[in-house]
Amino acid sequence: MDRGIAEPLLSREEISARTAQMAEEITRDYRDRDLVMVGVLKGAFVFLADLAREVDLPLEIDFVAVSSYGVDTESSGVVKIVKDLDLEITGKDVLLVEDIVDTGLTLKYLTAMLRDRGPASVSICALLNKPDARKVDLEVRYCGFDVPAKFVVGYGLDYAERYRQLPYVGVLEDEGSGGTG
Ligand code: IMP
Ligand code: MG
Repeated sequence: MDRGIAEPLLSREEISARTAQMAEEITRDYRDRDLVMVGVLKGAFVFLADLAREVDLPLEIDFVAVSSYGVDTESSGVVKIVKDLDLEITGKDVLLVEDIVDTGLTLKYLTAMLRDRGPASVSICALLNKPDARKVDLEVRYCGFDVPAKFVVGYGLDYAERYRQLPYVGVLEDEGSGGTG
């Protein structure tokens, strides 16, 4: 096991099998739609790459990058857009792709922001979901796995920018926060 990982939570095989199932659902739901998959950087880059390659539809890919507004983020739910979309999304079907939904504040803010631009729809696809940590009501249309409210890393998720490259998801040994997106 890699240094710093207390326990593996999801193997690369489990992740890959679930990703294929989610892609199948997405392929079914977005047939004859105008799909734009939007990854939330940095954490979603691995999941988006694997998911998109399993979706059997024409689609566009774009990214947003967000960062917290200092210490107030949790209470205000306001996030700073560090990198906005390059693509126009008016009339298109946006699928926000995230590594993990924790409090839900980031995606709540992002969906509201994107809905203001007149897309046909905005839905959420997240590999991981921590239902016990949720602070706002949020519909996660495609959810890979529910995980306990522990700090997890790997498969795109970081602790202080490390562990993103691990091909599996594991629980960090010294629990804490410090994920930076
Ligand atoms: P939310 O706004 O609280 O839902 O936060 C979502 C973001 O926090 C995710 O996109 C991750 O970047 C980060 N995050 C939340 N939980 C974890 C975790 O367990 N490991 C790594 N990053 C996390
Ligand atoms: Mg993130």
